[in-house]
Amino acid sequence: MFSSPRYALPARLMHWIVALGVLALYPLGLWATSRAEANLWDDLTNTLYAWHKTIGFAVLILMVLRLVIRVRGVAPPYPRNLAAWEISAATGTHHLLYLLLFIVPLLGWAGVTAFPALGILAGMHLPAMPFLPTGEPLAMSLFDWHANMAFVLGALLILHVLAAIRHLVVKRDGVVDRMWFGSN
Ligand code: HEM
Repeated sequence: MFSSPRYALPARLMHWIVALGVLALYPLGLWATSRAEANLWDDLTNTLYAWHKTIGFAVLILMVLRLVIRVRGVAPPYPRNLAAWEISAATGTHHLLYLLLFIVPLLGWAGVTAFPALGILAGMHLPAMPFLPTGEPLAMSLFDWHANMAFVLGALLILHVLAAIRHLVVKRDGVVDRMWFGSN
């Protein structure tokens, strides 16, 4: 098996912390909105929204850090037997993932600013997004975009995970090791 060097530790940590956060955001967001649609405005619904907004905003902040780490660092090389189309597909997907990992939380933050519904966990409040007016129609349209873009992001994440499984199980070419933990 070909073993390439790994991404730097901060880049790997960021990858897996953001992945865990995003994984939690889907059930929280879907559960919260399904309860809201059923008009169930109780403590559980509020808690689900509060967790979703808190983790979502944390993901946004982590993505800023992650982008800085990514542009300042160097990606480890791919194994030499990777086809050109595989490298282009990977690079294209990764760029789109970065873009959507900014767009989706920014739309969520814009929505709660416009609504306004900035309360999060422990009685704290998010800062309002600067220069954005408030108003329920604007908030509803921002939430629609937030949901639609979250589903596009979800589809890309599934593609990303399937590609990783292919490298790990079928090709066994060490591509996934570059983002994992170990001695080198
Ligand atoms: C990568 C980050 C995020 C992901 C993947 C994500 C994903 C989702 C998903 C899947 C839904 C359910 C959509 C639906 O069924 O209509 C949702 C709803 C929601 N999200 Fe997020 N979200 C993220 C970040 C944020 C942030 C940062 C905020 C606010 C600070 C936020 C606020 C909301 C709100 C308020 C709803 C409910 C909208 C409604 O009632 O229509 N989200 N999100």
